[in-house]
Amino acid sequence: MHATTSPVQMEMLGTKSVYIRHPEDMNLVLRNQGRFRKSEASMSRLSAWLGNGLASNTDLPNHAAVKEVLLPAFKSASVKGFVPAFVRSANELAAVIEGADGQPCDIEPLCRRMTLDVIGRTGFGFDFKALKAAAGQQAAANGAAQGDVQGGAIGDDYVDIIKMYDEILEPAMWLVFDLPIPEPLLPNIKNYYRGVAMVDDVIKKMVEEKRANGVREEDTDLLSFMIKAQQGGNAVMTDKQLRDELQTMILAGSDTTATTLAFALYELSRNPTLLEACRAEAQAVLGGRDPAGVPAEVFQGQLPLITGVANETLRLYPAATETGRVADKDEEIGGYTIPAGTNILPSIYSLHRHEDFWPRPREWLPERWLPENAPTLAPHADKAFMPFTVGPRSCIGRYFAQLELQVVLAVLLSRVRLEPAPSFEVETRASPHHLATFPPGHYTWTQTFTLSSKKGIFVVPSAYAST
Ligand code: HEM
Repeated sequence: MHATTSPVQMEMLGTKSVYIRHPEDMNLVLRNQGRFRKSEASMSRLSAWLGNGLASNTDLPNHAAVKEVLLPAFKSASVKGFVPAFVRSANELAAVIEGADGQPCDIEPLCRRMTLDVIGRTGFGFDFKALKAAAGQQAAANGAAQGDVQGGAIGDDYVDIIKMYDEILEPAMWLVFDLPIPEPLLPNIKNYYRGVAMVDDVIKKMVEEKRANGVREEDTDLLSFMIKAQQGGNAVMTDKQLRDELQTMILAGSDTTATTLAFALYELSRNPTLLEACRAEAQAVLGGRDPAGVPAEVFQGQLPLITGVANETLRLYPAATETGRVADKDEEIGGYTIPAGTNILPSIYSLHRHEDFWPRPREWLPERWLPENAPTLAPHADKAFMPFTVGPRSCIGRYFAQLELQVVLAVLLSRVRLEPAPSFEVETRASPHHLATFPPGHYTWTQTFTLSSKKGIFVVPSAYAST
């Protein structure tokens, strides 16, 4: 039995759940999907949105077959080629936040827009123009004439997909809890269906465009792999499956990375010495080169402090705070018997802040990840750091997200100065936005929560004076 890491039981609306946070317990649950499964999503009230996409797919053989089709798109050989796209988006984000020019700026929605553009361009060969839309709105709010907006989207033919997501997310939260309330009475439920239908229209357009342009054998983006599988006669990749994967990737591939980036920038804004050290590190390594031409290995291997910033943010602010599984029979976890049907919630957040495994657990200390400090400040990182979880349902986008974070941080920190917004403190909350898997009945629900800030994430950005 693990003394300070024992499972914690809670009951909500008749649903029994047990939080676990010992690495051994988490490994047991996460690595054995035959015993601890994600609960059925097929009848879920959110299936209209995410369908049977990878995150909510509970048919194990089907999940494995689909993952096999998608995996090549997430292998390092494919993802390394996305550096220029990451750089382009980082520069676009820098241009928008520099526009705040010494005023407090909520960077969270801007980071979401940037990561959405990234997944669109790299994953689907499609431009959502989400940041352009923000630049256009910002300029319009500042009273700019239509033609004056450099790179802005005023008058552009774009659909603001972030707005659609905002429409979907709030009513989706009501659906998640599967309350005994007739669906038409749930707040803003019409927005949910309208938002899902609008994103479906965008997806349809995206797939039509791709098919019309033709897919080449050497294309390594996700949508191309799915279409190639279809063309090769792979029976798992139906049109419906393809649509479900795109809905899932738009959500899973953007929110999480955006939140991580926004929390990292927030912490950096409060640590001027570290911010300067990161900027110096990035400038030394990029050395005046166009970052788009810098190999992925350089971003990954030669920026140890920026890697520390990314890791430490994933530790203290894990974008997915927890996930969920359910067991069909009684199971023993950490010396306790957990009755069949109980929700088992591996808590990434609690593990990452646990004092048995992390010295100074509540402090944001990127330097703990430097090789010379790791023995004292991150002695158990190999087993107590699981931002992407482990096992067969772990994050398919892990490598993608980590490289994206490295590149975007390096480019951004070379260009933008960050200062703290006066009297602003982040207040975190976990929202059931992301990667949700939802149950057919009232008795089991499992879901992954996304960490966000209650009142935005404000910093004061400005461009460095050119030297
Ligand atoms: C900082 C960024 C990210 C974090 C912290 C994160 C975290 C996670 C976690 C914890 C899981 C596993 C949940 C479980 O065990 O039940 C997961 C699964 C998943 N993630 Fe991510 N993720 C990130 C970025 C991405 C990106 C960029 C993509 C795609 C482009 C992505 C796509 C997925 C998918 C499809 C799954 C489901 C995998 C499966 O069930 O087989 N994620 N993510």
